[in-house]
Amino acid sequence: MNNANQITIFDTTLRDGEQSPGASMTREEKVRIARALERLRVDVIEAGFPAASQGDFESVRAVAETIKDARVCGLARANEADIDRAGEAIAPAAAGRIHTFIATSPVHMEKKLQLTPDEVVERAVNAVARARNLCDDIEFSPEDAGRSEPDFLCRIIEAAIDAGATTINVPDTVGYNLPGQFAGLIGDLRGRIPNADQAVWSVHCHNDLGLAVANSLAAVREGARQIECTINGLGERAGNAALEEVVMALRTRRDDFPCDTRIETREILPTSRLVANITGFQVQPNKAIVGINAFAHESGIHQDGVLKHRETYEIMRAEDVGWGTNRMVLGKHSGRNAFRSRCEELGISFETAGQLNEAFQRFKELADKKHEIFDEDLQALATEAVAALEEEQTVSLVAFRCCSETGETPTADVTLLVDGEEQRNSAAGDGPVDAAFSAIQGILQLDVELLLYSVNNITTGTDAQGEVTVRLERGGRTVNGQGSDTDIVIASAKAYLNALNRLRRGASRTHPQTEGV
Ligand code: KIV
Ligand code: ZN
Repeated sequence: MNNANQITIFDTTLRDGEQSPGASMTREEKVRIARALERLRVDVIEAGFPAASQGDFESVRAVAETIKDARVCGLARANEADIDRAGEAIAPAAAGRIHTFIATSPVHMEKKLQLTPDEVVERAVNAVARARNLCDDIEFSPEDAGRSEPDFLCRIIEAAIDAGATTINVPDTVGYNLPGQFAGLIGDLRGRIPNADQAVWSVHCHNDLGLAVANSLAAVREGARQIECTINGLGERAGNAALEEVVMALRTRRDDFPCDTRIETREILPTSRLVANITGFQVQPNKAIVGINAFAHESGIHQDGVLKHRETYEIMRAEDVGWGTNRMVLGKHSGRNAFRSRCEELGISFETAGQLNEAFQRFKELADKKHEIFDEDLQALATEAVAALEEEQTVSLVAFRCCSETGETPTADVTLLVDGEEQRNSAAGDGPVDAAFSAIQGILQLDVELLLYSVNNITTGTDAQGEVTVRLERGGRTVNGQGSDTDIVIASAKAYLNALNRLRRGASRTHPQTEGV
């Protein structure tokens, strides 16, 4: 395979993915996902939008300091402050990139930016030139290219390449394009722009019509050599092109796409699980590649066919994307070193002895309740342990008791440590979880709205841990909280407290595409 046919996989789970309402991640969570993306061997990790908030800046910087085998990219609007902030955030990276963008569609220029096309070109050129002084790898995106005038796109892209852009990314920001049309746009631009061959062509497709992957693949036929995508297709509104689908389509249909990626496909499922676990966005069962049913055969005819010859009903091997590698790793007799080294293999590293102790302690408690501890259990356990120490936990669970009996109203009795002081409360509810939340609310008295409550089993079996995600909103801020336990009511109380702690701490970020330049 020659280099011209290598597809660069640009992962934007930590940036566009995080723009899914409710998917915000802490710095530590972002670093863990970035490590998983490095093991997956993505080429570029868009780690965030440094000018959005101090937290975003620190997350991008932490990813830049950690990752060695992928380029780390920071997003910036086309203005000096954003570019400088992105340059500062990616400075420690072994290989860095600044990605700057400005909207180019008539509706965005006129209504959102209130700039003339000439002013937009000028800002784009200035931004690229300024970024080029900070970093030699610059990506430029004409936002909403899918609804922009091709003539204007030719003009601004040519100017951006002249100013030093090394990658030109064509976004279908609102997921409006159809595959033939989008491919036609890429072919047209590449054919008409005189300096087109001096940049790598990239696409960034949103999934509003369910066409993000199809549009991205169609663009490859017209010479796109970078695809922007996210794990599990996470992202703004209906999301972005799903990395796992793009990669496996290119690989499975190599007969049609003479292209290759660097991706270690067996890391797809573990990475998908990690992202689902951290964001609380669980994958639908019938989701291609990573859904629990993606390789399950229900009908007798299919089962019979697969047993006789796998290729009757399977176009990919489940193990090639990481299924079936769910090893029983540790048990109650495992020691601290075995625990730490398996965590390290999973990309979970403990920065302090305190974090390791906390996680090991939780591991021992879990091993007392559950015979076999799987990788997924470790991921969940580490998320909780590190969050408990890293994030200021002003409220923690001291004791919990609940009573649920046929014909009786369930009740819960909760003791919390709130700012160093123990407080106790009891409440009744429609079910034990409702009672637990009411009892906690009775103590904290926070005006919150419950947007989402979901329970998933982390592994299989009746002794599996339940993993609960709770999404809360207060005053326009949305946070997720996670909790896991073999008792799902306790897991629910933990998740609720985790989210309440996050809300009590406060922090906010601006949104890259709804802000002006
Ligand atoms: O969808 C979009 O246009 C974006 C840009 C910032 C590339 O996310
Ligand atoms: Zn986007």
